Amino acid sequence: MVKAVRISAFGGPEVLEYVDVEVGAPGPGEIRIRQHAVGLNFIDVYQRTGLYKLPLPAVIGLEGAGIVTAVGEGVTHLAEGDRVAYAAVTPGAYAEERVMPAAQVVVLPEELSFEQGAAMMLQGLTVQYLFRSTASLAPGDTLLFHAAAGGVGLIACQWARAMGLRMIATAGTDEKCALAKAHGAAEVINYSTTDFVSAVKDLTGGRGVPVVMDSVGASTWEGSTACLNPRGLMISFGSASGPVPPITVAELAAKGSLYVTRPTLFTYIAEPGSAQERAADLFDMVLTGKVKIDVARTRPLAEVAEAHRDLEARRTTGTTVFTL
Ligand SMILES: NC(=O)c1ccc[n+]([C@@H]2O[C@H](COP(=O)([O-])OP(=O)(O)OC[C@H]3O[C@@H](n4cnc5c(N)ncnc54)[C@H](OP(=O)(O)O)[C@@H]3O)[C@@H](O)[C@H]2O)c1
Repeated sequence: MVKAVRISAFGGPEVLEYVDVEVGAPGPGEIRIRQHAVGLNFIDVYQRTGLYKLPLPAVIGLEGAGIVTAVGEGVTHLAEGDRVAYAAVTPGAYAEERVMPAAQVVVLPEELSFEQGAAMMLQGLTVQYLFRSTASLAPGDTLLFHAAAGGVGLIACQWARAMGLRMIATAGTDEKCALAKAHGAAEVINYSTTDFVSAVKDLTGGRGVPVVMDSVGASTWEGSTACLNPRGLMISFGSASGPVPPITVAELAAKGSLYVTRPTLFTYIAEPGSAQERAADLFDMVLTGKVKIDVARTRPLAEVAEAHRDLEARRTTGTTVFTL
């Protein structure tokens, strides 16, 4: 038996149960991992509340790092004893040990700790695909990025700086704005105290921006689309403030022939080998010093409910990792 965090009903942090669970042997295409660090992500909140529905009971969590302890039939890219990390579509990360499909698991470079591995896979691969594949961005291009002092946000600030982009960043307090700026945002807007639409218009000579990356959802959607210049690209990749209200195609015409996409990491790493390819790019950005992975805080897995409360109440910056 190993310790794990399970939910038997959807709801608030109180549904998170710290329990003992059985872990079996890996089947074909699977591995078993002894985890040393597990990432906390906003998507875990969506799984807990039922915004993203899982069959119950379920061990939630999508990101971790540890050592492979057993390898199932047909797995060729990993071996027992490998240090590995993953962001994977199969829930079950909130556990000391787990069995999971091997396809989205990658070997963790020696230079990176388990904590860094668990801090960077889901949030870092998200930034990797957003900046490399979702938007077509060249040095000098401007974009608007919301919640820039969060886990995804602080990696995005550094990635934008490395690509020579002008990132206009928003965050909910002056301290968070300062943090985003220190990580590479060109301009920052405290969207709790300032109307970010007029601020973006002021910063862009009234033109607006060609790309918005918005993970806040309900509370920023209207403003974000208003910040786009004609034929601009709205990338809606999260719903921290609630789901985006339904939109009609006609609205996109009225707002200037806009493009909208609602991407998810798991589409971008679905093809065999793509998680490894994207991770290689992410590791390169980190190992060459262009992106620094700071683990903002670590907590024992048993403190999971408190960690969820802090994340949802916007009390965190950067990333939180559970240690095991
Ligand atoms: N589609 C994908 O592939 C993908 C992958 C990974 C993550 N995501 C999304 O990216 C976002 C960031 O994820 P993360 O794990 O790094 O979280 P995070 O950014 O560390 O935390 C969420 C942040 O959202 C902001 N926020 C604005 N309104 C909020 C509200 N009403 N309630 C809570 N937070 C609010 C807060 O920053 P301020 O106080 O500065 O506003 C908060 O710190 C999430 O929406 C997540 O779902 C999407």
